[in-house]
Amino acid sequence: MLRRPRRNRKSQGIRDMVEETRLSVKDFIFPLFLIDGINQKVEVASMPGIFRLSLDLMLKEIEECLTLGIKAFDIFPAYPETKKDKFATESYNPDTFYLKAIQKIKTTFPEAVVMTDVAMDPYSSDGHDGLVHDGKILNDETLEILGKMSLAQAQAGADILGPSDMMDGRVGYIRSILDEHGYTDVSIMSYTAKYASAFYGPFRDALDSAPKMGDKKTYQMDPANYYEALIEADLDTEEGADFLMVKPALAYLDVIRLLEDNSNLPIAAYNVSGEYAMIKASAQKGWLDGERAMLESLLSIKRAGAKVILSYFAKEFGLLEKNR
Ligand code: PBG
Repeated sequence: MLRRPRRNRKSQGIRDMVEETRLSVKDFIFPLFLIDGINQKVEVASMPGIFRLSLDLMLKEIEECLTLGIKAFDIFPAYPETKKDKFATESYNPDTFYLKAIQKIKTTFPEAVVMTDVAMDPYSSDGHDGLVHDGKILNDETLEILGKMSLAQAQAGADILGPSDMMDGRVGYIRSILDEHGYTDVSIMSYTAKYASAFYGPFRDALDSAPKMGDKKTYQMDPANYYEALIEADLDTEEGADFLMVKPALAYLDVIRLLEDNSNLPIAAYNVSGEYAMIKASAQKGWLDGERAMLESLLSIKRAGAKVILSYFAKEFGLLEKNR
């Protein structure tokens, strides 16, 4: 036998040399759940190790992550039912706690990359990403609200806006509002191929943001569809997106590869709450090695073509790297 592939696997030293994909703390964006108040730390029941934090504790968490080399954070606020309304007004109220928190995070850690989510659900009494009227989600009326929300987040100092709502035309609409107001350097990471997925369950627990009626299938993509992701990618690119995101990650590795092969924009993937919960739950039962399963799935997301990974495992990965 002339060719023996096993020769390149014979020792850790050789395996390290031929390793094609390497994870780094620089790959990650760490999603964080924010709540109002001080000294508040509440674990999300379906996401062991992940907490809703008040601003004071979130600042500590960010500082710790920065020392591990994690530089980017996606801030998701949780609002009580009493603050929600049909129009998600709280999302752009200049005095609301999440906008003040973003401001504080940016002034405390100017080097941190702060991302925010643009969608109505955490602030909406209907629990939908868009405006509900007669049981329907109104697209163009929603854009106006998303525009106000985006501008407020940019004014608070967000570096990257993440429209996760899947309304048509939102990237272009948000881009024009930002530019009109002088925020030409605020980036847009579009949730380009966001699927109507069961894997968002634990996130909706964390934010109490589940839809009150119906589901999100008229705006989020059908898990059966692959080529449709290219239509979304073309539109987001024309409309000025800086990053294209695929979400969830693990059940959609083919879609990550598709976008990576068809776009010159950096591709991001969101390793969502349910993907985190799945590994944590089976590790807690002793059914699989949680650490290895985490590393293998993160690696698969990068191997599929994602340059940026949003993951609840970011800090755990950072701690592991540090202690290696
Ligand atoms: C809000 C939003 C969701 C997630 C990110 N932004 C939930 C949804 O669309 O229902 C999910 C993130 C996760 O599951 O980790 N539009």
